[in-house]
Amino acid sequence: MSGAPLLRLDRLLANLGYGSRREIQEMARQGRITLAGEALRDVEQRVALTADLSARLSIDGEAADPLPGLVLMMNKPAGATCSHKEAGPLVYDLLPGRWRRREPAISSIGRLDKETSGLLLLTDDGAFLHRIISPRAHIPKRYLAELELPLRGNEAAVFASGQLRLAGEAKPLLPAELEVISPHKAAVTLYEGRYHQARRMFAAAGNRVLALHRTSVGGLSLPDSLEAGGFALLDTAQRASVLSGPAPLALEPRI
Ligand code: URA
Repeated sequence: MSGAPLLRLDRLLANLGYGSRREIQEMARQGRITLAGEALRDVEQRVALTADLSARLSIDGEAADPLPGLVLMMNKPAGATCSHKEAGPLVYDLLPGRWRRREPAISSIGRLDKETSGLLLLTDDGAFLHRIISPRAHIPKRYLAELELPLRGNEAAVFASGQLRLAGEAKPLLPAELEVISPHKAAVTLYEGRYHQARRMFAAAGNRVLALHRTSVGGLSLPDSLEAGGFALLDTAQRASVLSGPAPLALEPRI
C-alpha cells in the first residue's frame, strides 16, 4: 500500500481538463486510457495518486498531465496580464488549453503588473500560494529596473531606511535593498508586495521605471533557458527554494 490518496479515474481526468465524465467514459471504452500499458476501461475504478502516476497513465499514448498540486514558473512577457479584470492577453493563455480547464484552477502566486516581465509562479495548491503571499512571509523578490534618469546615489539609503512612504500610503515600506548596476540600471530586492511597489519606489525617489523584470523569488531564480512566455514545472527542491532565501538585515530577529 502506498498510502497515496485514491480518486476515481473519471474524476481525476475530468479535473485535469480531459473532458466531461461522459467523454472520459467514452475514451476509456475506446481503450485510449492506459496505466502501465494496460487499457483502463472502467472509469469508476479508483487510482492511487502516486508521484509517478502521470508518467504511467497515458491518454492517446501520451503521459497524463501533472497531477493536482503543481507549481509552475513562467517567464512572463511584458504585455500579458495576471488579472481577468485587465484588458489584454492573460498569462493563463500561455498555458496549454487543457491546463486552463483544470480543477482546482491554476492561478498566479501574487501578481506582476502588465508591463513587468520575468519570474511569475503559478499553482493550483492553495496552501502553497498562501505561504508565499502571506504578509508575514517576507519572501525576497528581486527585480531589475531600467530607469529614465541616472541614479542620484542616495537611492540605496532611502530604500533601506524603513522610512520611505509611497504616495497615498501612511505605513512606511519595509527596508529594501538596491544594488546599482549602471547609471540607468539597478536591482532591487523587496520583502513585501504593495501595488506597483518598485515603480512607485523609484517614483518616490524622483525617477521613472522604463522596464521592470523579476529575476528571483526566495531562493529561486529565473533560468536563462526559459524564454519569454515559456513555463516549467518546479521540482521538490525548487519549490523548497522559493521559501528559502536570505532575510533582510532589518527583519532578522533581534537577539
Ligand atoms: N513592482 C512593480 O512596480 N510591479 C510589479 O509587477 C512588481 C513589483
